Amino acid sequence: MDNIQNRVNELHDLLNQYSYEYYIKDNPSVPDSEYDKLLRELIDIENAHPELKTDDSPTVRVGGEAQSSFEKVNHETPMLSLGNAFNEEELRRFDERIREHIGKVEYMCELKIDGLAVSLKYEDGRFVQGLTRGDGTTGEDITENLRTIHAIPLKIKEPLNVEVRGEAYMPRRSFMRLNDEREKNEEQPFANPRNAAAGSLRQLDPKLAAKRKLSVFLYSVNDFTDFNATTQSDALDELDRLGFKTNHERARVEDIEGVLEYIKKWTKQREQLSYDIDGIVIKVNDLDQQDEMGFTQKSPRWAIAYKFPAEEVVTELKDIELSIGRTGVVTPTAILEPIRVAGTTVSRASLHNEDLIKERDIRIGDSVIVKKAGDIIPEVVRSIIDRRPNDAKPYRMPTHCPSCGHELVRIEGEVALRCINPKCQAQLVEGLIHFVSRQAMNIDGLGNKIIQQLYHHQLIKDVGDIFYLTKEDLLPLERMGTKKVENLLSAIEHAKQNSLEHLLFGLGIRHLGAKASQILAEKFETMDRLLKVTEEELIAIHDIGDKLAQSVVTYLDNEDIKALIEKLKDKNVNMTYKGVKSSEIEGHPEFQNKTIVLTGKLQQMTRKEATTWLEMQGAKVTSSVTKSTDLVIAGEDAGSKLSKAEQFGTEIWSESQFIEKQNEISE
Ligand code: IVH
Repeated sequence: MDNIQNRVNELHDLLNQYSYEYYIKDNPSVPDSEYDKLLRELIDIENAHPELKTDDSPTVRVGGEAQSSFEKVNHETPMLSLGNAFNEEELRRFDERIREHIGKVEYMCELKIDGLAVSLKYEDGRFVQGLTRGDGTTGEDITENLRTIHAIPLKIKEPLNVEVRGEAYMPRRSFMRLNDEREKNEEQPFANPRNAAAGSLRQLDPKLAAKRKLSVFLYSVNDFTDFNATTQSDALDELDRLGFKTNHERARVEDIEGVLEYIKKWTKQREQLSYDIDGIVIKVNDLDQQDEMGFTQKSPRWAIAYKFPAEEVVTELKDIELSIGRTGVVTPTAILEPIRVAGTTVSRASLHNEDLIKERDIRIGDSVIVKKAGDIIPEVVRSIIDRRPNDAKPYRMPTHCPSCGHELVRIEGEVALRCINPKCQAQLVEGLIHFVSRQAMNIDGLGNKIIQQLYHHQLIKDVGDIFYLTKEDLLPLERMGTKKVENLLSAIEHAKQNSLEHLLFGLGIRHLGAKASQILAEKFETMDRLLKVTEEELIAIHDIGDKLAQSVVTYLDNEDIKALIEKLKDKNVNMTYKGVKSSEIEGHPEFQNKTIVLTGKLQQMTRKEATTWLEMQGAKVTSSVTKSTDLVIAGEDAGSKLSKAEQFGTEIWSESQFIEKQNEISE
C-alpha cells in the first residue's frame, strides 16, 4: 500500500508541476498526452482505492459531484470595490488627494481584468475554499468549480495559511469556442466573456464548469502578517514565487504622469491581449502608505479604477431592416458592415423608431459611429456627414407593412408605427414565438427558426396546432434529427401540464402581462370560469385596470378564440390553476434585497414582467439610479440612467444577460 501511496504522491507532484508550467508559466515541458496519461493513471488508482483520494488531488480538475446550491459564507474581511475615474482630470484629483495626505508616492499600475472577483483560502499551503465576492460581506462557496481552474494551484510552494484575492475570467479564445458551440446547439450565446465566466462559476455541476476553460489572475493578499512584502509590487512578486498566477503587464511608476502613460499604452494595446480588460487599476505601492490612506465605507482611498470610455468604431450602414413585433409595432434595425467593438462582432443595432432616425439624420450608405452602451448594447451614435455619399437620401419609413402590405398607423401619443392587421403573418409568427417562450408555455427546443419553418410549411397556423404536431411533421425540417424531434415532442407534451397562467399569458392578450395572468389564474382558477367573467368583476380586482379588463373580456368573447380553446382542450392542454399562492414563493439569494433599476426598451418581455419576476426573487425594483443601486438592467435605447450607472460603476446587464440568469435560476 505504501508503494501505491508513494506513486499517488508522485503523480500529485508531477500533475501539479505540469499544470503550473502550462497554465501559469505558459511554458509546458511535456506534451498534453503525457499529462492526460498520468491523470488517467491517478483516476484509476483512486477508483480502486477511494481512501487515497484527497480534496487536493489533481483529479478534482475534471469536476466533482454536482451540488444543489452554493453555501453562503461570510468573508473574513469584506471584499470592497474601487472608486472609478473616467478621465485625466479625475485621475489628477485622485493623485492630489493622495499627495496632500502622504506626500510623495509611487504607484502600481495593473490591468483591470474583466471577470469576477474571487477569494481563495489556503491552509497549510493547500487550497481549501474559494468564494465569490457576493455583496462584499457574504459570498458563495464555489470551491468545487474553482478547483477545476488549472491556473489556481491546489498546493502552493510553502505551507502558509493565506487568503488571496483576484479575478477569475474567461480567455477570449475559450469564449469564442464556447459561443460557437452554443450557437450550434441553438443555445443563446453569452454577450461577453465576463458573463460567460459568471455563468460558468455559478454552474452547480463542477463537471460543466470544468469544460468552460476559465483562468485567474491574483492581485492581492488579505492579510500581510505572514507575508514577505512591504509594497504591492513585492506582494505580487511573492504571489508569483509561491506559485500563483499574477498578471505580468503590471508596472511600477513614479508619479501620475507615469500612470497616464501606462493608461495610454493599454488603451491602444488592449485588443492585443488574450483576455478582456475594462480599465486600469492604480494603487499606492507602499503598504504602510496604503494603511495611512485607509478606506471609505465602500472602497480603499489608496486605489482607483480608471474605466476605459466606451469604444467607438466607424462602419457602413448597409441597410435599414424592419421587424414587426407581436403587437404589430414596426422596429427599424440598422444592418451594419460587421465590425468588432468592445470584444464582439456587431452587425445589427436597433434604431428604435422613425423619430430617432430623423433626429440623428441617419441614411442608408452612411458611415456611422457605433458604440456599445454599457459596453453591451450596440447603438448607432451618429452619421459622419462629411463622408456621406452624394446620393444618400433621408430615410423614409414605409407607409405599408412590409409583411402583409396593410397600411401602417401611428397611434396617438405613441412614437411607434403599427400594423393593425390582425391577420398579418409577421405578427402571427411573433405570437407563436411568444406562446412557446419561457414565461409563457416554456416549450424547450421550439426556437424562432423552427417556428418560422413550421409556419411557412403551414404546419402551424395558430397556437393550438402546436399540440397536433407529429413526428412525421417535424422530421423533414432542416436540422432535425430523430433525437431532437423526440425531445421536442416530449417538451410539447410536458407543456400541456402547465398551470393556467402560462396559457393565459401565452395567448398574447393585449395588456395582459405575466403578473396579471398570474392574478387572474389564481383568482378564477379555471378557463371556463374566465370565459364567463365580466368587465365589472375584473375591474373589482386590485391591480386590474379598465383597459386590461376590457381587453380580456373582448378577447375571450370572440368565437375564433372560443374555438381555439376547444381545440386546446381536445389535446388535454391544462386549463386550471395549479400554482402556489404568490406570497408563498421563495426568492433567490442573488436578487434578495437587491435594488434594481430597469431602463430602456426590453425586447423579450415587458417592463412589468421583468419587474414581477425580480420582485418574486426578493428584489426591490426602483426607478432611478443612485449610488445604492445594485444592478441596472438595460434594454435598447437606454439613456441617462445607463450613463449614470456607468458613472457610479454600478453593475449593468443587458436583457440577454438577464434572460441568461433567469434560465440559470429556473434550471
Ligand atoms: S484591486 C479593494 N486589482 O475590479 C478592492 N481589482 O471594483 C481591490 N479587478 O472588485 C481590488 N482587476 O473584481 C484590483 N488588478 C486588479 C483588478 C481588480 C480587476 C476588479 C475586482 C474589483 C473591481 C473593482
